[in-house]
Amino acid sequence: MIETKTITWFPACLVKDMPENGGACVRYGDSQIALFHFTRRNEWYATQNECPHRRQMALSRGMIGTSGDVPKVACPFHKKTFSLATGECLSGDECSLKTYPVKVENGWVYIGIDDEDE
Ligand code: FES
Repeated sequence: MIETKTITWFPACLVKDMPENGGACVRYGDSQIALFHFTRRNEWYATQNECPHRRQMALSRGMIGTSGDVPKVACPFHKKTFSLATGECLSGDECSLKTYPVKVENGWVYIGIDDEDE
């Protein structure tokens, strides 16, 4: 049996409202999503905003960079780092982040929410 997910794309913000090489917190219902514009790589990422280490709503304010070729974000609290691409913790901890697909169309940034998220 093939399982299919339904993705709902919601308009998160205008491209021009996002900081370069930085993040912003976007609300979706009761959820907070950290949206990142990695301008140097011309890439967009979205993850849960809550850091799984000590449950701080902080990742959108984290510093982004790379580890090798892996785009990452560092939580501002204890500097644990996570892959923006997969959500994997790069600091050796068991915790990981939920990630969301992102697309840009006509000057808008859209975040994809699958039916299991709602
Ligand atoms: S709360 Fe994020 S690293 Fe500790």
